[in-house]
Amino acid sequence: MDQPLAIELIGIDKKFGPVHANKSIDLKVKRGSIHGIIGENGAGKSTLMSILYGFYQADEGEILIGGKPTAIRDSQAAIAAGIGMVHQHFMLVENFTVLENIILGAEGGAILGQGVQKARAALKKLEEDYGLEVDPDAVIEELPVGLQQRVEILKALYRGCDILILDEPTGVLTPAEADHLFRILDALRAEGKTVLLITHKLREIMAITDTVSVMRRGEMVATRKTADTTVEELAELMVGRRVLLRVDKKPAEPKDVVLSVRNLTVKDNRGVTMVENVSFDVRAGEIVGIAGVAGNGQSELLEAITGIRKPVSGDILFEGKPINGFDPARLRALGIAHIPEDRHHMGLVLAFEESQNAILGYHRDRRYSRGLFMNQKAIRASAEAEIAKYDIRPPNPRLKTANFSGGNQQKIVVAREIERDPSLLVIGQPTRGVDIGAIEFIHRRIIETRDAGKALLLVSVELDEIRALSDRVLVMFAGQVVGEKQPDADEQTLGLMMAGIAA
Ligand SMILES: Nc1ncnc2c1ncn2[C@@H]1O[C@H](COP(=O)(O)OP(=O)(O)OP(=O)(O)O)[C@@H](O)[C@H]1O
Ligand SMILES: [Mg+2]
Repeated sequence: MDQPLAIELIGIDKKFGPVHANKSIDLKVKRGSIHGIIGENGAGKSTLMSILYGFYQADEGEILIGGKPTAIRDSQAAIAAGIGMVHQHFMLVENFTVLENIILGAEGGAILGQGVQKARAALKKLEEDYGLEVDPDAVIEELPVGLQQRVEILKALYRGCDILILDEPTGVLTPAEADHLFRILDALRAEGKTVLLITHKLREIMAITDTVSVMRRGEMVATRKTADTTVEELAELMVGRRVLLRVDKKPAEPKDVVLSVRNLTVKDNRGVTMVENVSFDVRAGEIVGIAGVAGNGQSELLEAITGIRKPVSGDILFEGKPINGFDPARLRALGIAHIPEDRHHMGLVLAFEESQNAILGYHRDRRYSRGLFMNQKAIRASAEAEIAKYDIRPPNPRLKTANFSGGNQQKIVVAREIERDPSLLVIGQPTRGVDIGAIEFIHRRIIETRDAGKALLLVSVELDEIRALSDRVLVMFAGQVVGEKQPDADEQTLGLMMAGIAA
């Protein structure tokens, strides 16, 4: 039973200016185990893993790998020590192929020489051993995120890692892809490899980990054997209070139609029809949820409604008037707010200060600008109000957005769009990467927005989230709405519809 330790961290301490991200952290991880790390947004999880991977240097503390004190000055040193990492936000070169990305940096700089054939063979073997299928010649930007993530894992394995760190790997995956990932992690564990898994999904912690450690506000507050704990206990350890794991809401009182979509057809960048002849209405005072496996047209539908993508045919009406072809700025001015699915591509400029992102897209609003003059005081005040209300940490509107944790970046976008008090709120994946305490809060704000008489259209790959929030559920499959259900319809029926099997 006494396995050697793969990793031991002793007194790891890290500050970013006034932010104490890691406070004298101790952690022991057994070899051949899957060790979960959970904690609120901004608790310091990614920072701790980045120190282990040599991305940041600890101010103090010691790292032991396989019992040996190891200095990890950079990622090269981490790789040499047998550590691989799949980051919260992928670090692949988008216009390189899978194979190029995998070799990149692994051959001591000499890329694309005769090593290529060797790499191709090694890759094939890895694919066979772990069921990690992916076309080595595909260009990264053309792959769906699930496959991009597989490339990150292959890259780590290609470099011979014994320890694999995964920072919120399932945030971007469909449930089926997540299952597949867990089978891969099982196989790695069976081989004696060690996995460190950061996730906000406590179900995943219960399903796959052997041990789980909880961080709160920079401290390591508890470590439990997974078999000896419960979701409720973990939730409480994370946020320091009881968390309501479900939302309460009264029945909807739908009023006039706000959004009307008629025979809408939308193609993606490659010219493939992703939305086909879709029609539905959303009324004031109701939340219409769109359930579906990612990639069945939900993204393109939201993009068309919010002016990011031009539909091929059909009509979109807002309060009875056509809005086809309007650009996002014009739609925002009309009272249509949008929480985009991908905060990095659409929702935020990471190089800007928080306060600038807090008004992104709304900077022409009369509250914030007159002619060429920006009213800095008003901008700061509204940013500060949102920071307080949404518990965005650290509470500093001057901080560069890139320096907020992933979940706190998401809260910046959600706050900006909900607080605009729109007539129509279009929401994609509202709680991606957000901790359970913040999910509870965001869900409550969404319901309050409905109860204030607004129309809401919600897309989420989390079926639980769709069922908890929606008043009506439309199921999308292969670009079409294949049926409408009540949110309390049983999960199996919805699941079958989402798979295109039953109507
Ligand atoms: N490069 C940086 N500069 C300044 N502050 C930083 C930097 N990186 C992280 N921080 C701060 O350190 C704290 C811990 O952030 P970290 O990213 O480790 O949180 P996390 O636990 O991974 O959260 P999440 O669940 O939201 O991803 C946060 O307050 C964050 O704003
Ligand atoms: Mg993080």
